[in-house]
Amino acid sequence: MATKNPPIYVVGGSKGGVGKSFVTLALVDYLQRTDVNAVLVETDTSNPDVMKAVHDEIECASCDLDDVSGWIDFVNFCDAHRDAAVIVNTAARSQTGVAQYGGTLASALDDLARRLVVLWVINRQRDSLELLLRFGATFLNADTHVVRNGYFGAPEKFALYRESNLRKAIEAQGQSLDFPDLADRVADELRSQRLSIHKAAETMHMGERAELLRWRALFSAMFARVTADA
Ligand SMILES: Nc1ncnc2c1ncn2[C@@H]1O[C@H](COP(=O)(O)OP(=O)(O)OP(=O)(O)O)[C@@H](O)[C@H]1O
Ligand SMILES: [Mg+2]
Repeated sequence: MATKNPPIYVVGGSKGGVGKSFVTLALVDYLQRTDVNAVLVETDTSNPDVMKAVHDEIECASCDLDDVSGWIDFVNFCDAHRDAAVIVNTAARSQTGVAQYGGTLASALDDLARRLVVLWVINRQRDSLELLLRFGATFLNADTHVVRNGYFGAPEKFALYRESNLRKAIEAQGQSLDFPDLADRVADELRSQRLSIHKAAETMHMGERAELLRWRALFSAMFARVTADA
């Protein structure tokens, strides 16, 4: 497959509240800070939280992936921004749309000359893994990484994933990554004020900022592992 254009990063997980929006916010910040030109596709049309936080900083589009028309807009947006990495924040329960129309994107990837990089955010429960198996059936050629969200506990607590055949399959082609936990009071401020991480680093009080910068250093090391070869 020709892959001369920057990748499309899909932050998935399908389940509600596993941390997709947080990982997306972090990826936006990481790519900005490493001078990668990036655009955002917000597919959570009922609660476009990431788009609201970053629309002043990067170009954004909103596409409803439950609808075939949203998938067409999505492919066109990727085509119109060939020089930019595309970051996709997905909504919980986008599974039906992906199964129905995801083929639109899967078949366009060659034409777009882009790789699809999936960052699948999990908590410690089984359904996070089952949903990934179903998603993977649509995007067979994606580079898929699993992101254990440290909000749900230390890496060793993700026992189901550790023991799963899925982990072996992921690690044969991708990585198991650890997304760091951010102190609740800083996470709550980020969320309630709808701040981008860049903005938060400029405006938070010194104590909160110190915690934010600790977190940023950790997630930057995590993303460096996946974007190095992207
Ligand atoms: N790594 C983390 N550190 C601190 N808090 C976190 C972390 N990950 C998630 N959270 C908390 O969990 C909440 C839900 O996370 P987030 O909104 O990113 O999930 P989501 O998967 O996007 O949910 P939805 O499916 O509703 O869009 C956040 O508002 C935050 O309070
Ligand atoms: Mg979200």
